[in-house]
Amino acid sequence: MKKFEYYTPTRIVFGKDSEKETGRLIKMYGGTRLLIVYGGKSAVESGLLKRIEDEVKAEGIEYISMGGVVPNPVLSRTRQIIKEGLEFKCDFVLGVGGGSVLDTAKAVALGLYNPETDIWDYFAGIKKPVKSLPHAGVITISAAGSETSDSAVITNDETKPYSKRGINGDFNRCRFAVMNPELTYTLPKYQISAGVADIFMHTSERYFAAILGNHMTDEIAEGLLRNIIKYGRIGVDNPSDYEAMSEIMWSGSLSHIGITGLGSRGDLPKDGDWACHQIGMALSAIYDYTHGATLTAIWGSWARYVCKKNLGRFAQLARNVYGIEEASDEKACEIAIKKSEEFFKSIGMPISLTELMGRTPSDEELTALSENCSFGKKRTIGAFMVLSYDDMYNIYK
Ligand code: NZQ
Ligand code: ZN
Repeated sequence: MKKFEYYTPTRIVFGKDSEKETGRLIKMYGGTRLLIVYGGKSAVESGLLKRIEDEVKAEGIEYISMGGVVPNPVLSRTRQIIKEGLEFKCDFVLGVGGGSVLDTAKAVALGLYNPETDIWDYFAGIKKPVKSLPHAGVITISAAGSETSDSAVITNDETKPYSKRGINGDFNRCRFAVMNPELTYTLPKYQISAGVADIFMHTSERYFAAILGNHMTDEIAEGLLRNIIKYGRIGVDNPSDYEAMSEIMWSGSLSHIGITGLGSRGDLPKDGDWACHQIGMALSAIYDYTHGATLTAIWGSWARYVCKKNLGRFAQLARNVYGIEEASDEKACEIAIKKSEEFFKSIGMPISLTELMGRTPSDEELTALSENCSFGKKRTIGAFMVLSYDDMYNIYK
């Protein structure tokens, strides 16, 4: 085994009716003045927001609720919510929704704890975040894994071209995550599919790491991939199948809780490759595409570009995840890539930029994407294979 340090402090409250525990949990973590953050309309229409408000009221907790968080959540709304939270003097932040809502809640919690700092300075890497106000989430979509991750991702919509940036650290850890799979029954099919894709990717990004040799970690990752492929397909076709939706939900949390990335880069703090996420984030920044769909659109292209770095790793995916008995690593690698693309297609996700965009992107667009992804040619991405601006361009192309 390689060296690693693992910390995952979030309390998970999983199962039917678990949202009824929300008030009790906030109280347990010392919350007395609560800021609830939610999205567009799903939590209002399902009655979930009202039920949560009733639960917290019953515990004697004062609260305000702020909605209007959009998918690929934006800085401008984050600032407005921080302002309201400061005026209300809140001491606990609760996200009720998906990754976009939870990430906004995390950014808001950071902003509330550090009101003297411009919140974007953290995302731009100008300042290093250390501490946030306590925060937690009630999740309504299985996808981003924000409930167990140490990340938050926000798009700066104040300067063009927009840029989508993430920040990581223990300050981003939810105190608790309430997870009732039944809350996902109302999801549109496309969102379930995009979520399943994202769950696959959070495992894949860590599986294709620079340093290998943690077999227990591999076993967990391969089991997770087999599970999300099996139940992802079932859930997309049957959104009210409790077994499938609960398997997808827990897979989503486990795929981003860090356990499949332990020691994957030895002493380094990073735990995977993450190139596909960076390539996908530029697509969301410029075109506002759904996160999971950006990842499946470029994964095959990325895989074919980098696979020669370690054909055996892709062959292992073929053998241990797809059950392929093929002695040649080269052939097994191509099968693994094809099988993954078949899976993405089977859940209705795009497997090329042309499919994602509904047209073939122009050369200017590919250049703009590569500029955006490379921060103006100032950074490389990836660990399985380190990618320069030119590599990013080739993968988009
Ligand atoms: O706004 P509402 O009306 O709630 O609708 C949302 C939204 O349109 C809808 N939805 C959510 N739950 C629903 C529902 N509709 C009906 N019934 C329900 N139960 O679904 C749409 C998508 O929601 P969103 O929160 O955007 O989805 P997701 O959880 O996929 O989050 C995506 C965001 O998370 C970031 C992505 O980049 C993206 O911005 N990520 C966050 C990560 C993290 N914090 O660790 C890691 C990921 O890699 C990812 O980057
Ligand atoms: Zn993701």
